[in-house]
Amino acid sequence: MGTRDVAAAMARAEPDRFGNPPLPTWLEANQDLRLATFADAAAEADVIINAVNGQASLAALAAAGEANLAGKLILDVANPLDFSAGMPPTLSVSNTDSLAEQIQRQFPAAHVVKTLNTVTAMLMVNPDLVAGGDHTIFVSGNDETAKQRTSALLAELGWRDVMDLGDLSSARATEMYLPLWLRLFGVLGTPMFSIKVER
Ligand SMILES: NC(=O)c1ccc[n+]([C@@H]2O[C@H](COP(=O)([O-])OP(=O)(O)OC[C@H]3O[C@@H](n4cnc5c(N)ncnc54)[C@H](OP(=O)(O)O)[C@@H]3O)[C@@H](O)[C@H]2O)c1
Repeated sequence: MGTRDVAAAMARAEPDRFGNPPLPTWLEANQDLRLATFADAAAEADVIINAVNGQASLAALAAAGEANLAGKLILDVANPLDFSAGMPPTLSVSNTDSLAEQIQRQFPAAHVVKTLNTVTAMLMVNPDLVAGGDHTIFVSGNDETAKQRTSALLAELGWRDVMDLGDLSSARATEMYLPLWLRLFGVLGTPMFSIKVER
């Protein structure tokens, strides 16, 4: 797992904003995971997961190093949320572009697939926690092999209803779902909900 500054991350002693234990406590309990710089993590990785702040994603991936991303699958789960004007956040990119496309343009040798950004983190890795897992997750990307690989990884996580939305421009749609997601979160008082596409 990459971070800007390993020593600073290991010095964190406070719970995160969700009340989860600080990173060192979590790493102690998950000893198969190692913290590294973005560049070292990316160099060793077979698949890159962009799970950093949406506004910082391009900078974090640049720090990971273009050569360390080339030819690799980048699963982009980030949302381009701008909290600078308070709540609710706005989207820093939308309509005619998306964060996923910005990443693909900046790193043309990588294979970017947008997925999982429509659900809360706990559901990403355990879809059964809502509706017995009977809900839909989307994939968007330009490379068919990368999307097939993503779908296989999603199946390993328990996703049964994986919908291919098409090329990476379709990530605009799932990123622009975020304003509705945030309103639903406010109304429901829980992030444990998802989209089910009924055919
Ligand atoms: N949390 C969820 O349930 C959820 C659901 C769907 C999508 N997402 C998306 O997933 C991403 C991560 O979510 P999160 O809740 O963990 O958000 P977060 O707290 O905003 O992201 C934390 C991560 O962003 C990195 N980061 C922050 N500022 C940075 C900067 N200026 N330069 C480089 N890296 C920076 C942090 O690195 P350091 O370790 O160096 O601080 C850390 O790895 C976000 O894009 C979010 O929209 C989250």
